[in-house]
Amino acid sequence: MGDDAASSPAFTLLDASASSIASRVDLLFVALLALCGTVALGIAATIVVFCVRYRAGHRADRRHPPTQARALEVGWAVAPLLVFIGVFVWAAWTYAQSRRVPPDALAIHVVAKQWMWKLEHANGKQEIDELHVPVDRPVLLILASQDAIHSFFVPAFRLKQDVVPGRYTQLWFTATRVGEFRMMCSEFCGSQHSAMLGRVIVMRQPDYSRWLDAPPNPAVARAEPAGAPRDRGRALFDRLACASCHGAGSSVRAPRLEGLYGGRVELEGSDSVVADDAYLRESIVAPGRRIVRGQAALMPSYADQLDAEQIEDLVAYLRALGSEAHP
Ligand code: CUA
Repeated sequence: MGDDAASSPAFTLLDASASSIASRVDLLFVALLALCGTVALGIAATIVVFCVRYRAGHRADRRHPPTQARALEVGWAVAPLLVFIGVFVWAAWTYAQSRRVPPDALAIHVVAKQWMWKLEHANGKQEIDELHVPVDRPVLLILASQDAIHSFFVPAFRLKQDVVPGRYTQLWFTATRVGEFRMMCSEFCGSQHSAMLGRVIVMRQPDYSRWLDAPPNPAVARAEPAGAPRDRGRALFDRLACASCHGAGSSVRAPRLEGLYGGRVELEGSDSVVADDAYLRESIVAPGRRIVRGQAALMPSYADQLDAEQIEDLVAYLRALGSEAHP
C-alpha cells in the first residue's frame, strides 16, 4: 500500500482502497468495529468483575440489592438508540453517495454468464474477465446476466452488485489508483463459481485511450460478431422485422421508437415510466407487463429468441434511435 501503482498480492486481509467510495466505507467499517469492540469489551470486563466480587463464599455486601434504577434503564435504552440512529444516517448517506451516478460517467456494459464476465466498451471493444478503466473518471457499469444470479465484486473498490437475470442493475465507481485489482463473482452461481475471477486494470487516461483504440484481442474478437453494439442491434432489429409494427408506415401503429429513449412514457392506468435501459429491456422480454397508454397488448415476448447480449445490442440500438428526433 502507499505507492501509486498498486496491485493486489496473493493474500491480503483487506485490499488496498482504490475507489472514491472506498475510504468512506472503510471509515464506517472501522467505526462500527470500534463501537462493537468497545461495548463487547465493556460487557466482558463487567462480567469478570462481578464473577470475582460476588463469587460463592466471598464476603460481598449483599444486603441492599437495587430493585429500581430508572435513570440507568432509560439511559441504556436511549443511548444505544441514538447511536444506532446515528450509524444508520451515516451509513445511508454513504450508500446514497455510492448509488448516485454522476451524469458524465463512462458507461460500460457487463454480461455475466456461467462462468465468465464479458465486458463491452462504448466503441464496441470487448474483453473477457478483464476490465480496463481510466483513473479518476466516473465509470458506470450496466450489468446483465445470461443465466444465474451472479454478483460483481471488486474488493479494492468496496463495491458489490448482484447481476440478476431478466433485469439490468448498475454500479458506478471512480478508481483512484492506477494498478490491477481483483474482480470476482460473490454469488454462488454453479460449479465453476469460484473460478469466475478477473481483474480490473486501472490506467491513466492517455493509456486507456490508446488501449481503447488498439485492435481487439484476437482471442476475444474471433467469437464475437463484428461492429459496435448499436450496429449489431440494428441488424437484429432488421432481422426480427421490428419495423413492421414499430415503423412509420406500419398499420399496427405500435409505439414509435425514435426519440423514445430517456423520455417519459404514459402507461395504461395512471402510471408513467422513464424509457431507460431497464424499461426497454423489459418491453422486449415481457412486453405485456407495462402497456403504453392507448396500445393493444399485441407484442409477443422475445425472451426465448434473444440472449442477454443480443438484448443489450438491441437496447443499444434503441438508445441510438432515441437520440434522433421524430421525423
Ligand atoms: Cu457467477 Cu458466482
